[in-house]
Amino acid sequence: MKETKQEGVDISLRKFIKELGYLAGGAAVLATSPWLTACTPEKLKEISGNRARVALIGTGSRGQYHLHNLKLIPHAEVVALCDNYEPHLKEALALFPNARTYTDYRKMLEEKDIDGVIISTPLNWHAPMTLDALAAGKHVFCEKAMAHSMEECKAIYDAYQHSDRALYFCMQRMYDEKYIRAMQLIRSGLIGEVTGMRCHWFRNADWRRPCPSPELERHINWRLYKESSGGLMTELASHQLEVCNWVADKMPESAIGMGDIVYWKDGREVYDSVNVIYRYSNGVKINYESLISNKYNGMEDQILGTKGTMELAKGLYYLEEDHSTSGIKQLINQVQEKAFAAIPAAGPSWRPETQGKYRPHAIISGEVHVNHGQSTVGVDKDGSDVILSAFCQSCITGEKAKNVVEEAYCSTLLCLLGNKAMEARELVYLPDEYKIPYMKF
Ligand SMILES: NC(=O)c1ccc[n+]([C@@H]2O[C@H](COP(=O)([O-])OP(=O)(O)OC[C@H]3O[C@@H](n4cnc5c(N)ncnc54)[C@H](O)[C@@H]3O)[C@@H](O)[C@H]2O)c1
Repeated sequence: MKETKQEGVDISLRKFIKELGYLAGGAAVLATSPWLTACTPEKLKEISGNRARVALIGTGSRGQYHLHNLKLIPHAEVVALCDNYEPHLKEALALFPNARTYTDYRKMLEEKDIDGVIISTPLNWHAPMTLDALAAGKHVFCEKAMAHSMEECKAIYDAYQHSDRALYFCMQRMYDEKYIRAMQLIRSGLIGEVTGMRCHWFRNADWRRPCPSPELERHINWRLYKESSGGLMTELASHQLEVCNWVADKMPESAIGMGDIVYWKDGREVYDSVNVIYRYSNGVKINYESLISNKYNGMEDQILGTKGTMELAKGLYYLEEDHSTSGIKQLINQVQEKAFAAIPAAGPSWRPETQGKYRPHAIISGEVHVNHGQSTVGVDKDGSDVILSAFCQSCITGEKAKNVVEEAYCSTLLCLLGNKAMEARELVYLPDEYKIPYMKF
């Protein structure tokens, strides 16, 4: 059993940081991803033999995913599980039969033998549970997004400033090797000046979960109702907007957008189609789009620079110099060759400027796979196991992970600002009362 754990997150965490050049020049990695300072391989070695006693609230789909990862973390021990929906609690108990079970999280927080609490409940529960757990003296790992309203986010942020406990939000891209390495490459100037960002998430599914009885509808399908969910923005965009801020090293000032229920008209309250544009003070924009009735475009975090493009989710980048048949060059060639002379006045003077073929380069070492014309590399892991391991490490050392709360705060505020823009159908600005010193504009 112990051996399985050693081959799990522990090893991958060490390998992951080592491969990033931590040992040979880690300062660069830690400069762009300072939260990794709390979980270096040396610090992991120091806590060898210790175990964080953790409890998990919310044993649904994501909670059970975390439990599977916890089985692979040698410095974690799951001592308690909590859920107010019995079928999920039973499934979780089957994974950790020795854990104590609770239906009331407040009762569970009274237990002295719990070092850290993992919260994977619906969005409307993030703030009350995080605040209660911090007040009870527990280290906390809460799922993204940070909270359901700007006011709740600010309450969490303020509580954290006065707490000596570690607090993590599960923004796993911050612990994803591809993203960390990409950030270094971007800072090194590889893709030139970043002049735009395009993030999208397309799915073709209704987002509904089977519901055993009508009175459970809002409990099971919490994602579809405004009282418990921020819809596509908090569920999906939260990860991607964090990446944009990480790249830009600042916050957009304003947002404008449109949201609609276009296809899944089944009584849900949250949009199934969102388009939001965020604008940074230098004019750089994030174009965010999500639609859940067509999955052709999949999911991507695209960073556009004057010399190249990063597709972070695929783990690839492309250089402008690899592509020699852009529309502009084509036009110049045509002019030089006096091609227009032969074109009748009403005829075509421009060929469509469709995307050409760029040679993909891998962000991290690994083979580039081409499936159905799509290239990808190193996409099997997304950082969720590493961030959970880092949290368990913090439960033992007491060390806070630098900037994790701040990054979660900034990206969640952007999600909520996007929703506000779509509701108002007008340009909106981040209210002054929610600005924090960490934010640069
Ligand atoms: N980081 C990621 O990539 C990622 C992926 C999926 C989900 N999530 C997040 O994880 C969280 C949970 O999502 P999910 O898909 O697992 O939802 P889910 O509905 O499958 O699970 C939520 C669980 O919380 C329980 N619960 C609700 N209220 C409770 C209460 N007051 N006390 C105790 N238990 C309560 C429910 O009974 C359920 O078992 C959400 O915040 C979601 O955004 C994050």
